[in-house]
Amino acid sequence: MKKLLVTGASGFLGWNICQEVKNEWEIFGTAFSHPVEIEGVNIMQTDLTDYEELKRVFNEIRPEAVIHTAAAAFPNYCQENQTESRKINVDASINLAGLCADNNIPFAFTSTDLVFDGQNVPYQEEDPVGPMNVYAEQKVKAEQGVLKRYPDAAVCRMPLMFGDTWQTSKLFFQLMVNALEEGTELKLFSDEYRTPVSGRTAARGLLLALDKAHGLLHLGGRERISRYNFGLLMMDVLEVREARLVRSFQKDIIMTAPRPLDVSLDSSKAFALGYNPISLREELEMLL
Ligand SMILES: NC(=O)c1ccc[n+]([C@@H]2O[C@H](COP(=O)([O-])OP(=O)(O)OC[C@H]3O[C@@H](n4cnc5c(N)ncnc54)[C@H](OP(=O)(O)O)[C@@H]3O)[C@@H](O)[C@H]2O)c1
Repeated sequence: MKKLLVTGASGFLGWNICQEVKNEWEIFGTAFSHPVEIEGVNIMQTDLTDYEELKRVFNEIRPEAVIHTAAAAFPNYCQENQTESRKINVDASINLAGLCADNNIPFAFTSTDLVFDGQNVPYQEEDPVGPMNVYAEQKVKAEQGVLKRYPDAAVCRMPLMFGDTWQTSKLFFQLMVNALEEGTELKLFSDEYRTPVSGRTAARGLLLALDKAHGLLHLGGRERISRYNFGLLMMDVLEVREARLVRSFQKDIIMTAPRPLDVSLDSSKAFALGYNPISLREELEMLL
């Protein structure tokens, strides 16, 4: 089996990639502050912001492809810790792109739908970006830096993702499931729209991107949905009738990092390459 380096294997998406493709690749996954164990995956504790350490790990593994999911992925954290988050979100991403370029191996970088400002949906790859917070600004800088250093890299803009992972207590998805099942109040924005996919589907999209894509690629789902309507769909799939789902609006909440209302992605370029997300109902039926 060929060797795949997955950075951020202890995170939501990295963990999902490991689960999804560990029978097809020999996987080397990195973790940083959360020591994870994944059967069949070689986990290495690594600080990717330390370039010497990154090079050492890379040269030890000699990967034949890399999917880079490690990031400071919480916008509020980035807003308050700009210097720290820049190191992993921008500098480490460009350094890793450089190592892949020098070794001429496929590289997929995970960016975000939040690079857009929400004024012009649905967004295609060529549309102008308009980051509204520090996290999104860093992702834009990383996208540009990665492609400058390695024009053949696949820069994948990920949508909101949901599903299983090993640290379920941390996950918005698990918190939603718990609230719906226990009948505790769950406030969800009815004016925030996304094109979500499961971590499993996203993993498949990234594998496809490694194989077939260069440059920007959107890996959104086929359905545009508000967070509130996503909650209603979950209620239906879970067959709960008594949940206390409350419709709320973004303007009612003060957020450290401002967020765009609607960053639905047009992912037809990826669909044409063979990316094939199933419906949200089917995704939820499989997960729940
Ligand atoms: N989740 C979403 O809905 C979403 C939406 C759009 C885009 N994205 C993007 O998709 C990617 C994956 O997101 P995610 O939700 O899986 O994030 P996550 O669950 O927060 O995981 C982040 C990962 O990065 C690792 N990491 C952080 N700093 C590191 C460092 N200095 N050195 C090495 N590893 C470090 C973490 O390791 P430890 O936990 O071990 O410290 C963890 O494995 C990110 O690029 C994110 O921006 C996510």
